[in-house]
Amino acid sequence: MNAPLVDMPEAAARRVEPGRFITFEGGEGAGKSTQARLLAAHLEQAGIRAIVTREPGGSPRAEALRSALLAGKAADLGPFGEAVLFGAARIDHIDTLIRPALAGGAWVVCDRFADSTRAYQGAAGKAKPELIAMLERIVVGPMRPDLTILLDLDPEAGLARARARGGDAAVDRFEGEQLAFHVALRSAFLEIAAKEPARVRIVDAALAPDEIADRIWTIVRDAFPAVLKQGAA
Ligand code: TYD
Repeated sequence: MNAPLVDMPEAAARRVEPGRFITFEGGEGAGKSTQARLLAAHLEQAGIRAIVTREPGGSPRAEALRSALLAGKAADLGPFGEAVLFGAARIDHIDTLIRPALAGGAWVVCDRFADSTRAYQGAAGKAKPELIAMLERIVVGPMRPDLTILLDLDPEAGLARARARGGDAAVDRFEGEQLAFHVALRSAFLEIAAKEPARVRIVDAALAPDEIADRIWTIVRDAFPAVLKQGAA
């Protein structure tokens, strides 16, 4: 027989519904950070607490690793060595920000996550796929995204956008890779989407930003219908 509600331990009665974990992925210049911010604003309008974060980074220790990684200081370690450092940053980000936020009921919108390691260090960087998969299991554990938005864009257009955005600043470690790297990267992301269609949804990043945001909102509402009523916001 079920215990009456008034007899429930206080902690259980106060138990909050965990938040959802949504990641954005794609090549350079696809507009992920803009769209991550717009999605979080949309969620907030719908009454959902949302946190925007990014990788590499998102926590003080991971941001320190980000500076080294994007400056190319780990490039000599080779693609798997770099993947291990992206993994170290990710462990700290999960432990100090993502897991506590989700447990507290906030939704976490993250600009890049483990698919970026699969695509950048794995497919395009040519680290052994079985090593990347093993590393992902160790680093991420059960912390898989509930939904991933892949912003897909022709690499030449993406690199042009990223360079225009960067102005006179020197290109970072990965923007500086040859076009062939970015072409391989795009195929890798599309392959991940093809393998995991329930989690990864592709959005055409060549569209206008407002149109992209509308499409993303439709995908998010469809993915979480019980939380986000069709008519909301
Ligand atoms: P960032 O300036 O955030 O680039 P973008 O705006 O394209 O997201 O730099 C992050 C870079 O780090 C980007 O080039 C992708 C790369 N990266 C990896 O190579 N592996 C990873 O696991 C992650 C998270 C990022």
